[in-house]
Amino acid sequence: MPTLLQQFQTDGFLILRDFNTPAECDALIQRAQQLADDFNYNGHPSVFQTNEQSRTSDDYFLDSGDKISFFFEKNAFDESGGLKTDLFHSLNKIGHALHDLDPVFNSFSRSPQMKKLATGLGLNECLLIQSMMIFKHARVGGEVDIHQDAAFLYTEPRSCIGFWFALEDATIQNGCLWAKPGGHNTLLRSWFRKKDGGGTESFVLNTEPYSMEGMIPMEVKKGTCIVLDGLLPHYSLPNTSGRSRQAYAIHTIDSKAQYPQSNWLQRDMSSVKGF
Ligand code: FE2
Repeated sequence: MPTLLQQFQTDGFLILRDFNTPAECDALIQRAQQLADDFNYNGHPSVFQTNEQSRTSDDYFLDSGDKISFFFEKNAFDESGGLKTDLFHSLNKIGHALHDLDPVFNSFSRSPQMKKLATGLGLNECLLIQSMMIFKHARVGGEVDIHQDAAFLYTEPRSCIGFWFALEDATIQNGCLWAKPGGHNTLLRSWFRKKDGGGTESFVLNTEPYSMEGMIPMEVKKGTCIVLDGLLPHYSLPNTSGRSRQAYAIHTIDSKAQYPQSNWLQRDMSSVKGF
């Protein structure tokens, strides 16, 4: 039997079933609903777009590292700029410091099983750099283009690892993750960073196209944790079903790695902690 770490190193991901209880998942969903209810929407949202070229680069997005900020689906608005549906069902995600600022998200992110998993993966010196509540609402949730998480949390040397928690069942119909076993044995394609003079850019590091051959759907039950190597190319399709696919994700980096000032996500590093 390979150890968890060996399996992770071979596949570039781990699928850990029954990692969280249904009650733990429900508590997070309820807390996110509360946060959305309390969100004072002023009509000037930051639309989170998954296509890198059109990803919003406004101050709200770049300023969200140490905050609880709300991002909308790109198709949430009608021609006059109003929301097509209620606010909660217009949201794409909430980020990026939920795990440090909100007690419910903090205890989910730093649960006893997370501490044990981090130890098993040798992540004793890691930092929880960001967190995201991802809604993927029924019929509204958009696709997420193929990408490597290390492009968005660039460090030298590379150290980004993602933890993706299924708060509801994830299926092909409601937009589960897709990836390829061993797909992490590849180069980092890009670095999403701040551009001189404002905004952001996807700086190309390697032009090799992603190979889509061998991609498999990660259909998982509520309570599953998927660990993702930062180099593993992955994506998800739009939610075409009548059921939402709510998920929560946290990302870690190595505390000894260099985190460039030009990364799009900036945090007050004195407030960034491990598990
Ligand atoms: Fe990702």
